[in-house]
Amino acid sequence: METVVSGIRSTGNLHLGNYFGAIKNFLKMQHENNCYFFIADYHSLTTHPNPSDLHDKVKQVLVEYLACGIDPEAATIYIQSDLPEIAELYLLMNMNAYIGELERCTSFKEKIRKHSDNINAGLLTYPVLMAADILIHRAHKVPVGKDQEQHLEMTRQFGNRFNRIYSVDYFPEPVAFNFGTELVKIPGLDGSGKMGKSEGEGNAIFLFDTAVAIRKKVMKAVTDTGPTQLNQTKPEVIENLFKLMNAVSKPDTISYFDEQYNAMTIRYGDLKKQLAEDMVLFTAPFREKILELLSNNDYINKVVRQGAEKAHESGRKTVKEVREIIGLKSF
Ligand code: TRP
Repeated sequence: METVVSGIRSTGNLHLGNYFGAIKNFLKMQHENNCYFFIADYHSLTTHPNPSDLHDKVKQVLVEYLACGIDPEAATIYIQSDLPEIAELYLLMNMNAYIGELERCTSFKEKIRKHSDNINAGLLTYPVLMAADILIHRAHKVPVGKDQEQHLEMTRQFGNRFNRIYSVDYFPEPVAFNFGTELVKIPGLDGSGKMGKSEGEGNAIFLFDTAVAIRKKVMKAVTDTGPTQLNQTKPEVIENLFKLMNAVSKPDTISYFDEQYNAMTIRYGDLKKQLAEDMVLFTAPFREKILELLSNNDYINKVVRQGAEKAHESGRKTVKEVREIIGLKSF
């Protein structure tokens, strides 16, 4: 069975775009591979979050993934900082990561532009830490999007370099992985093609949103002035609303509004009301599950402990072998 590793940012709540993208991917993968999913809390330290915020966010993210159906019995789900082996491998990998290649990394250049007041070494070596996350389990596959391609390329680079320096065939080459065509891309509510939390207020519907918040956001969704010809092609902003309906509404509802659009009798207000209600119905069970899990500290504790234990087993083995390869042997 192939090993899959994926790091989850410890910032922000899950939105419908995450659910229909990455999460559905994870749900499928967890039964077909040896999966390690972890919350990347070390990574988040580059921005110096306040300690209680950090803790709350890690818990929230963990709980949301569990609420979506990540099964701690099928996959290994853990908190990155529970695995000190990652920190050790990160140190060792730093010895064969070159400053030049780290400085050339697109995400680093972007970060120094955005956070010019805090260009710390952790930012520079972010790709090394990510490589350690992946190499620690000698993973074959990493389910990441386009924005992480370069980081993954660097992971391959570091792993291969290690193999070369020590003349071993130790680390496999991890490849980006997703179910591609089966994934549905969820548009945002602001007329932009993509749902995302950084796209601006009101663009994303979160699984943890209240019904009130969802209605408010959907009613504000961007539309146009309406169709001007029978059976015309829908402009992107309208097509986006139908795509959202596709994700959460019944086929009958969708064809009803489709016909209304084609007949030029559509009232966007009605469509939005329906869409909002369908989104409320879709997200409500997630919200309930999240709330239930948040109040069940015993269960969360158990999941985290069990995940750390399973991940340790794999991490300890890798670090032990890497130490031996490098020559850090016991006397
Ligand atoms: N850099 C990833 C992101 O921003 C998160 C991440 C950290 C990750 N370590 C990882 C993803 C290891 C995959 C594998 O989304």
